[in-house]
Amino acid sequence: MKTIIEPFRIKVVEPMKLTTREQRRQFILDADLNPFRLKADSVLIDLLTDSGTSAMSIYQWAGIMRGDESYAGGRSFDRFEASVRNIFGHEFVIPTHQGRAAERLLCDAAVTSESVVPGNTHFDTTRANIENSGAEAVDIPIAEAKDPSNLHPFKGNIDLELLEACLTRNVGRVPFVLITITNNSAGGQPVSLANIKAARAICDQHLVPLFLDAARFAENAWFIKMREEGQRHRSATDIAREVFSYSDGALMSMKKDAFGNIGGVLSLNSKDWASKIRTNLILTEGFPTYGGLAGRDLEALAIGLEEVLEEDYLEYRIRSTAYVGEHLAKAGVPLVQPFGGHAIYLDGRRFCDHLTNEMFPGWALSVALYEELGVRACEIGNVMFGHDDPKTGEWCWPDLDLVRLAIPRRVYTQSHMDYVIEGITELYEKRHLIRGLRVTDMPEVLPHFSARFAFLEGDSKAHRMA
Ligand code: F0G
Repeated sequence: MKTIIEPFRIKVVEPMKLTTREQRRQFILDADLNPFRLKADSVLIDLLTDSGTSAMSIYQWAGIMRGDESYAGGRSFDRFEASVRNIFGHEFVIPTHQGRAAERLLCDAAVTSESVVPGNTHFDTTRANIENSGAEAVDIPIAEAKDPSNLHPFKGNIDLELLEACLTRNVGRVPFVLITITNNSAGGQPVSLANIKAARAICDQHLVPLFLDAARFAENAWFIKMREEGQRHRSATDIAREVFSYSDGALMSMKKDAFGNIGGVLSLNSKDWASKIRTNLILTEGFPTYGGLAGRDLEALAIGLEEVLEEDYLEYRIRSTAYVGEHLAKAGVPLVQPFGGHAIYLDGRRFCDHLTNEMFPGWALSVALYEELGVRACEIGNVMFGHDDPKTGEWCWPDLDLVRLAIPRRVYTQSHMDYVIEGITELYEKRHLIRGLRVTDMPEVLPHFSARFAFLEGDSKAHRMA
């Protein structure tokens, strides 16, 4: 049998509301052409994010009933701590309400305005937290990551030469190196075991700690198993443990590879930092045995962290994402290859090759996806990462202008994905009708969440779709 089936059956359903294209046009206009501003009920298939959108298992729901809501010393924390430690292996396990809280706490403890924090590609909230401490966040992915059609199996890797150069140039200024697995901002691409090991050796030479942003560590472990030489015989758990063994600490948004609807963790070996972080945690998140979460959340996350490493699940997960990518690629739709673990990334500039960067091709595509199909996707490109160069003051467009179709875990079936494939294929055939945009409001920090746009007027080539 070649078909890989969903390794679960459905026990509870959440009805979806069908909408017409005319309704959706009005909804997206009312949202100032920003999909983040839409009411979720007006979205048919929501691929905005794979974060916090997973379906929990019967075991997680049962765990929720077992949650211990004691303020201090709750048994759900013990379960959470044991589950995290079992995979991550660090000494101190600190729960947080989500990933960005862990980022902020780590930055408060270790980053100053003099700091430089290199990584493969920092996620947007990570970058924002580093910059909020006055520090410089440096992205040094391998060169292959910038080419959407390059088939390098580990396009999430950090460039080791640039890492070495960065640490040599910034002696005493790098509080930690942060490698994100998988590399979300660069297409959900994995990082190899060899790359993490080599980065660790470089960090050791410079006496700099290595941290992992482990939001999608299980998907990363599966890619290592499938793609890295000599890894096929190992379990995903075994691989994940080895990955973490090269790190001094990790932060994780547990809304991804722990099937949590909320939750995060900061796990580390430094007693000094852990103590500072816990003090700050009490001030801003909660007591160290719940960290801004309910006991029931801790329970569900502890179980999710174990479930996510089940190999039937990981095989289905990675294959079902690739299924979408393969069908779209066959139809000629330009996208990032190889396919990521949690998402398929459309290449906005090539999809909308009639639009210039100033017309926001990726964002315009995300608007068209909603209007035409009711599919909500997220631009990861010109709006999210366009910025003034701090040295020259000139405006810079990012290397890639992508539109991410993030796939929630265990939520949509294959026929939902067939609808997405069919719709995008049809949209690609009439892509020249996708209309360019202009900005009417663009906040300085994390602009994508609240920016507002209007369709370009008088653009003769690109009409609004009929
Ligand atoms: N790191 C990575 C790699 C992420 O993808 C995210 C969130 C975070 C950190 C922050 O975690 O949301 O729990 O505070 N990514 C979501 C996404 C929002 O859609 O990719 P958080």
